[in-house]
Amino acid sequence: YRTIIEPFRIHSVAPLRMTTEAQRREAVKAAGYNLFGLHSDDVLIDLLTDSGTGAMSRDQWAAIQHGDESYAGSPSFEIFRSAVQELFPFAHVIPTHQGRAAEKILFTALGGTGRVIPSNTHFDTTRANIEYSGAEAVDLVIAEGRDPVSRHPFKGNMDTARLDAFLTQNAGRVPVVMLTLTNNSGGGQPVSLENIRETSAVCHRHGVPLFLDACRFAENAWFIREREPGQGEREVSDIVRDMARLADGMTMSAKKDPMGNIGGWLALNDDALAEQCRALLILTEGFPTYGGLAGRDLEALAQGLKEVVDHDYLRYRIRSTAYLGEALAKAGIPVLQPIGGHAVYLDAKAFLPHIPPLQYPGQALAVALYEAGGVRGCEIGTVMFGRHPDGSETPATMELVRLAIPRRTYTQSHIDYVIEVCGEVARRAPTLSGYRISHEPKQLRHFTARFEPL
Ligand code: F0G
Repeated sequence: YRTIIEPFRIHSVAPLRMTTEAQRREAVKAAGYNLFGLHSDDVLIDLLTDSGTGAMSRDQWAAIQHGDESYAGSPSFEIFRSAVQELFPFAHVIPTHQGRAAEKILFTALGGTGRVIPSNTHFDTTRANIEYSGAEAVDLVIAEGRDPVSRHPFKGNMDTARLDAFLTQNAGRVPVVMLTLTNNSGGGQPVSLENIRETSAVCHRHGVPLFLDACRFAENAWFIREREPGQGEREVSDIVRDMARLADGMTMSAKKDPMGNIGGWLALNDDALAEQCRALLILTEGFPTYGGLAGRDLEALAQGLKEVVDHDYLRYRIRSTAYLGEALAKAGIPVLQPIGGHAVYLDAKAFLPHIPPLQYPGQALAVALYEAGGVRGCEIGTVMFGRHPDGSETPATMELVRLAIPRRTYTQSHIDYVIEVCGEVARRAPTLSGYRISHEPKQLRHFTARFEPL
């Protein structure tokens, strides 16, 4: 059959509150035209993020009842650690309350003034944690990864020739190389197994460890299975283990592919570095067998890790994201190609060519989607990346609006509604205007900045 159905039925439901366009215009104005400032009750279809917003399974809720809340040595930690090591066979697994806590610990240990940390593309919290340590964050994705219309099958790939040259030029200054799977800020695009292998070889030739930012590892592995020669018959869990074995460690947000509402971890092989990281963990997160999580959270994540590598789930997951992207493309709406794993990225530069980058076309588009239909997406463009540590502002490489799809949460008719709303905003496009920022914090301005329409 052509129709790839949701491989689950609904077990527990939460209501959506219907709103009118007039109510939404009021709400977004009161929020300073920043969609992070909205009450989620005022949002109809929330595509702000796929992080922590998924639906847990019956078996995850059952696992929660099994949680053991001992301060030290909880059996829930053992269950969590073996589920992590089953896929990522690193010697040390250090639980954290979410991904950025793992980043903060890693870059406190490895960052600092004078150091540089390359990645294919750093996610915003990763970049911010590196910069906060005094180090510099550098993106070395392949050229196709910065071109919204290139159809390269692995647009998340690292430019390994540039990485090689970079490591030569910056010898002694690079404590670690990161690789983001899938490349979230670059459109949810995968990295091939071959590229992970090459990146690993380049790093190790220079004596630099490679860490994966592996939030969406299962989606990445599914793309490898679908697109990479010789991988089509393999188990996703085997592909994941191959990815992990090429690296020296990982940072992880368990709010993505591990199907959690909260959680994360840092995993690595180096004993001395692990000891240093555990000391930092105790300072801010907690004892090493719970690290900022409850025992029940650890159990839910262990179960989620088993569910996310299921082929029926991944086939549905990747297909349902493509369903949205393909329908929008067919309607003539500019979307980043190919369609990513967890999200569809609208190309706001092409959607609103009359709005200059420093008037934030992505913000204008995101606000218009909310006003027209209560659909909340997220600007990934100059608002997110335009302000630099030295205070200057430049346009971002791409002006995107991400429609991220929470896992197992919305049905196809919800997505059909989103497609209709995008069509309506496309009709309004010529009448939309840009924004100016009336207030912004020093770092991570997209979360709390306030805007005024021009
Ligand atoms: N790395 C990547 C690639 C991410 O996408 C995220 C979070 C993090 C690290 C940080 O993890 O949120 O658990 O602290 N991304 C979310 C998003 C917030 O909407 O894309 P966290």
